[in-house]
Amino acid sequence: MAKVLFINSNDRPADQAVSVQMHQAFLQSYREANPQDEITELHLFDAELPYYGNTMITGLFKLRQNMEPTEDERKLAEIANFYFDQFMAAEKIVFAFPLWNSTVPAPLVTYISYLAQAGKMFRYTPEGPVGMAADKKVMLLCARGGDYSSEQMAAMEMAMNFVKSAIHLWGIHTPETVVIEGHNQYPDRAKEIVAEGLKETAAAGSRF
Ligand SMILES: Cc1cc2nc3c(=O)[nH]c(=O)nc-3n(C[C@H](O)[C@H](O)[C@H](O)COP(=O)(O)O)c2cc1C
Repeated sequence: MAKVLFINSNDRPADQAVSVQMHQAFLQSYREANPQDEITELHLFDAELPYYGNTMITGLFKLRQNMEPTEDERKLAEIANFYFDQFMAAEKIVFAFPLWNSTVPAPLVTYISYLAQAGKMFRYTPEGPVGMAADKKVMLLCARGGDYSSEQMAAMEMAMNFVKSAIHLWGIHTPETVVIEGHNQYPDRAKEIVAEGLKETAAAGSRF
């Protein structure tokens, strides 16, 4: 029985949001294929995710150093550590996220900041940082309305590239990915692009 964490980073209605449809299609086929697994769904827009800033950073630092944090620092550090521990307890993790304004929605940036703890998620060595979550199996599901497949457009893509490079630091170097893209750029083919992409997403869910 595997522990699986599904992270949904979009609060738009499913009938409008392709990345939410990906989350749902993957979850359904995964569940059917793995009825015994323990699945946790984390909806980032429904979670209390205060900004990652000085109070939280200082609280996390003090807890790591066995120093006494202030009440506010402790409260914020405990929120970050709750999500950190939840992530570390999962064997498989599925991120579903949209590309909005060239990047990911803000709650996902905040969430990733909570997880990226030096000394816990990665450590510095003379040879460079070493990730401590290398044992995790990770799936990245991303929808983006433009077509980012050309070299010029790929350089401007800061959703999949952002998440991939964040988890690379954590030791997760070969995540699986499914991308649905171009449905806004090519409206005449939008239905086919999305239908084909959701089929691929569901198939990936059965195999994961
Ligand atoms: C607020 C917002 C901003 C968006 N910005 C971009 C963008 O910068 N580039 C792009 O190609 N598509 C953009 N899109 C289109 C989305 O990438 C597209 O709808 C895709 O399916 C992912 O978002 P969704 O899951 O909310 O549908 C944007 C959509 C929304 C709702």
